[in-house]
Amino acid sequence: MCEDKDLSRIASLRNDEVPERVRSESPRRYAISRLTLTDFRCYDGLRLDLGPGPVVLTGPNGAGKTNILEALSLLIPGRGLRRPKLSEISKIGSAGGWAVAVDAETPSGPVRLGTGFSPPEGGARERRVVRVDGQTAANQNVLAEMMNVYWLTPQMDGLFADGTSGRRRFFDRLVYAWDPAHAGRISAYETAMRERSRLLRDEAHPDAAWLSALEDTMAKRGIAVAAARLELLGRVGPASARGLSPFPGAELSLAGDLENWLASGPALEAEDRFRAALAGDRRRDGETGRTGCGPHRTDLIVHHADTGQAAELCSTGEQKALLIAIVLANATQRSAERGAVPLLLLDEVAAHLDGERREALFDHLITLGAQTWFTGTDENLYQAFKSDAQMFRVMDGQVSDV
Ligand SMILES: Nc1ncnc2c1ncn2[C@@H]1O[C@H](COP(=O)(O)OP(=O)(O)OP(=O)(O)O)[C@@H](O)[C@H]1O
Ligand SMILES: [Mg+2]
Repeated sequence: MCEDKDLSRIASLRNDEVPERVRSESPRRYAISRLTLTDFRCYDGLRLDLGPGPVVLTGPNGAGKTNILEALSLLIPGRGLRRPKLSEISKIGSAGGWAVAVDAETPSGPVRLGTGFSPPEGGARERRVVRVDGQTAANQNVLAEMMNVYWLTPQMDGLFADGTSGRRRFFDRLVYAWDPAHAGRISAYETAMRERSRLLRDEAHPDAAWLSALEDTMAKRGIAVAAARLELLGRVGPASARGLSPFPGAELSLAGDLENWLASGPALEAEDRFRAALAGDRRRDGETGRTGCGPHRTDLIVHHADTGQAAELCSTGEQKALLIAIVLANATQRSAERGAVPLLLLDEVAAHLDGERREALFDHLITLGAQTWFTGTDENLYQAFKSDAQMFRVMDGQVSDV
């Protein structure tokens, strides 16, 4: 990480004024009180000091708004909202590393988190480093225990029409907040799956005991992954289907063999079935180079609760509203059950909503007490919100108070 770089060019901004409505609402929120970026995309150095309320970043196209949200999206496990290679994030022309550091308020108290990347030497694998209160963590999965972050971006407009992996990742991110071990289970499952695929593909006579051991790990972890997803569905599904006026309800279901087995019998039985399926599929999986059965193939199915229409057949605006409904239902449910309000990153969401929906969204988020980060090119859309939000203008990689 390049955290120690001279930050003399950092823009330091203060906005300590906490709007009355925000101050009086839920204090058990995840909120960033300081964000520092180093060599991150268009920023060589940026520092923002913030209160707990909503944040609005406005400015022209290419100013650097989404880059700030991307930095925050790297505070949970995964590849963030753009999913680039780690080296692509580094500011063009810099030494090749980058860092994001935050002071955050969380329901379990303040925490200092850092994540970053230094170019590996001698062909080693790219890996992002995570620090918690100054200590380097074993891996990035620890972030799921520290932060809850959700986002909606213009790229997600195709979520319902595109392939299953984006929907699955979206749903798994919802699970992280409720079950921080979920990220670790998925990576353990995927590591075993990759190794099994490699053995089946590359070795004429793979070691049967080693294959069985890998399949055992896949069975245990895979069923735990599916069970955690089903549990989330039970928690958030009903609130999502009810919707939050004027946003429509979004009916959620999961389509996958493991989820079906779990729904129809005990977990141990489902584990045995999955283990047997993997053993039986070895030849086919070796030939196709893919693992035909498992939680990595599960799909999230969404229907518009009022019309019954499948989400992928809904209009662009309806699809956006469904996504907002799911994210709001999850945040509201977490707040109600655990008293913990996630950090929300809404990239260009306001521009796609009519006035009534926009104001309803602002009202829901203020009532919820979420530190929501909005971006947009048009400052005027946030007029009604100005007294409640921390307004910043972004221009050519510089951030200033409005
Ligand atoms: N690694 C990098 N180094 C330097 N600049 C970069 C890097 N990656 C992206 N940029 C630049 O950062 C700038 C800001 O991008 P960003 O996506 O944050 O803009 P934006 O304000 O969200 O714009 P829009 O309103 O069009 O969405 C872009 O001009 C982009 O080319
Ligand atoms: Mg943008």
